[in-house]
Amino acid sequence: MSGAGGAGAVDLDAWPHVFEPGDRDAPVLLTLHGTGGNEQEITALVPHLWPGAGVLSPRGRANEQGMTRWFRRMGEGVFDVDDVIVRAGELVAFVAAARERYELGDRRIIAAGFSNGANIGVATALLHPETLDRVVAFSGMYPFADRDPLGDVSAVELVLLNGAADPMAPSASVDRLVEVARAHGATVERHVRPGGHGLAQSDVDAAREWLAAR
Ligand code: MLT
Repeated sequence: MSGAGGAGAVDLDAWPHVFEPGDRDAPVLLTLHGTGGNEQEITALVPHLWPGAGVLSPRGRANEQGMTRWFRRMGEGVFDVDDVIVRAGELVAFVAAARERYELGDRRIIAAGFSNGANIGVATALLHPETLDRVVAFSGMYPFADRDPLGDVSAVELVLLNGAADPMAPSASVDRLVEVARAHGATVERHVRPGGHGLAQSDVDAAREWLAAR
């Protein structure tokens, strides 16, 4: 990888990931695992979201005491926003390299992330809508703390699926995500269920419906 913002090429062989082509006429789901997860386990979501979809599932490249993540944080919910921005750029370079290697042509790539994976997916779409313009965010939140680094994101559509009582993705932060994304033109659908951090069956069902309408 060269270039702090991810502008350079990525060596796909050096970046652990899963790729499965799926049906040619289906989108490719870019699955993004949560803290301590990995690129294999998160792919189990795909058949529940879009049977037949392709799968592109990279491993987060940040490490927190042995746990795989997508970007650094100073504490729970306290993000290193500069690192978020750099890592989002790296993910863009990964997607570009994978698009070329796997000959994805103009197949749509839709991100589906959980928790920390939702946060990097949202950050990447809001910073790089030309690479990623659809995100399913399970238990995600606003990834830029008190900053607003967004440009025009009118091409972006997000679906946010959250628990009403989630200390790791507090409602106030999800409110801010909705407000900032919409202010810059994004289309945002939000589903709130009872409960906390996690991935409920109702989240998956709502996400599948949202995807089917896309
Ligand atoms: C994050 O760090 O992205 C969120 O706090 C959720 C998580 O613990 O991964």
